Amino acid sequence: MTLRVAIVGSGPAGIYTAEALSKQSGEPIEIDVLERLPTPYGLVRYGVAPDHTSIKSIAGYLRRVLETPGIRFLGGLELGADVSADDLLACYDAVVYCTGAMVDRHLGVPGEDLPGSVAATDFVNWYCGHPDVPSDAFTLDAEEIAVIGVGNVAVDVVRILAKTADELRGTDVPEEVLDRLAASRVRRIHMIGRRGPEHAKFTLKELRELGELANADIRTLPHEVEAADVEGLSRQIRGNVEVLRSWSTRIPAGRPRALDVRFWLRPVEILGTARVEGLRLERTRLVEGRVTGTGEFETIPADMVLRSVGYRSVALPGVPFDAGTMTVPNVAGKVTGTDRQYVSGWLKRGPTGVIGTNKSDAAETARTLLAEAVPGAAIAKLDDLLSARGITPVTYDDWLAIETAETELARTLGRGERVKLVGRPAMLAACGRVPRDTAGASS
Ligand SMILES: Cc1cc2nc3c(=O)[nH]c(=O)nc-3n(C[C@H](O)[C@H](O)[C@H](O)COP(=O)(O)OP(=O)(O)OC[C@H]3O[C@@H](n4cnc5c(N)ncnc54)[C@H](O)[C@@H]3O)c2cc1C
Ligand SMILES: NC(=O)c1ccc[n+]([C@@H]2O[C@H](COP(=O)([O-])OP(=O)(O)OC[C@H]3O[C@@H](n4cnc5c(N)ncnc54)[C@H](OP(=O)(O)O)[C@@H]3O)[C@@H](O)[C@H]2O)c1
Repeated sequence: MTLRVAIVGSGPAGIYTAEALSKQSGEPIEIDVLERLPTPYGLVRYGVAPDHTSIKSIAGYLRRVLETPGIRFLGGLELGADVSADDLLACYDAVVYCTGAMVDRHLGVPGEDLPGSVAATDFVNWYCGHPDVPSDAFTLDAEEIAVIGVGNVAVDVVRILAKTADELRGTDVPEEVLDRLAASRVRRIHMIGRRGPEHAKFTLKELRELGELANADIRTLPHEVEAADVEGLSRQIRGNVEVLRSWSTRIPAGRPRALDVRFWLRPVEILGTARVEGLRLERTRLVEGRVTGTGEFETIPADMVLRSVGYRSVALPGVPFDAGTMTVPNVAGKVTGTDRQYVSGWLKRGPTGVIGTNKSDAAETARTLLAEAVPGAAIAKLDDLLSARGITPVTYDDWLAIETAETELARTLGRGERVKLVGRPAMLAACGRVPRDTAGASS
């Protein structure tokens, strides 16, 4: 008998799990990969920065997995809206949840909800052309922008803000987004860490790229970077500190944009009445390893504040969720207290790690699943259930048609290899499909 597995989410975790199950299983196995969007690859398509084309090429690897016999892509199906966990348990012998971490973490300071205070998740979704965020969601009329957080997402956001639209022309950034980037009035960007340079989360390669920006002068302040104690720390961290120190003595070259990388400052209030006007910060130090305010304050004028302080997962209806860790509780990928339910990726371990981290994580979940799942538990067929509900999923061939339309658009516009289509209607039209009535924010 054939083991039938549903994987929910087609990001790296979902696809690596499909690959691991297919490779590790000694018995026949059929895997359906369900995805709420019409497109596969999760954050590889809607997170990885458009100018990081070599990382984006990982999609080529993921594509080969989706083309493996026995693995099927079913797009436009949202767990919680179109199908429930119980539906999937009726239709499959095992279900693996791989829905990632799509929501921003909150700062918890006054003014966070003012217009002009923006979550990096939304901004990233915008420049990546995510169908949930319209391409007119942002107008870059802010001249001074404060980016809170010193992780790799903050670095991505800063780089996209600092580059010219011309530098991004060869990427897959949607044309409407490129137009708005071309009209950007940004002059000064501050990237702000609440601890020291030796505690920053960004990686050396990504940090160095900021120093090579053709359109922006970068600067750090000697008193914020010089004192960093790097004794016994990793080569990566020592490298970060060295680079940050070297920027404190750089002579500005008069480039159109300025980028200040700041440390030891924690946000205490986003200032403004009708919209963001500034960011009030308190200088910090570490007391017994904890970030502690010194009572010394500084205000940065800012027309926009971008909060890049990490992502978090959301609970899936009918699936256990630990509100403390914001993950699905599990032992080696088996969802705690359930039968036939598994988890992998950011939903399993939280929003950290690069794409490759999800591969070993997925392999663990696949081993756990294959050690205990048995064929025959499924009592229904998803295709029957969907047709009874009048739902036609986006197939892998439909997705290929979307890709072809994107390649064609790039050719017409005289830009790079691909230009993303924005919005579900455009994507569904590209594969000759009519959007469902419910197609909107949630389908
Ligand atoms: C902005 C950003 C940039 C990054 N850049 C890099 C980089 O350059 N290099 C690198 O190595 N790593 C990068 N990462 C990290 C990398 O993207 C993650 O490690 C990886 O994507 C996590 O994989 P995942 O499958 O768990 O989640 P995701 O990639 O988020 O995939 C989850 C999928 O589940 C789908 N989904 C969600 N809810 C439902 C539902 N209810 N029903 C059906 N489907 C659903 C989503 O649409 C999505 O397709 C970046 C992360 C971010 C946030
Ligand atoms: N090119 C790449 O490889 C790439 C690109 C993008 C993302 N990614 C990966 O994706 C994952 C997520 O990245 P991320 O940047 O979202 O998260 P992250 O690496 O966890 O960084 C979050 C940043 O926000 C700060 N922060 C958190 N809460 C804060 C608060 N209340 N006030 C001020 N600052 C606060 C953190 O500081 P503290 O350390 O003090 O908490 C940290 O600097 C990471 O693993 C990252 O490496 C990789």
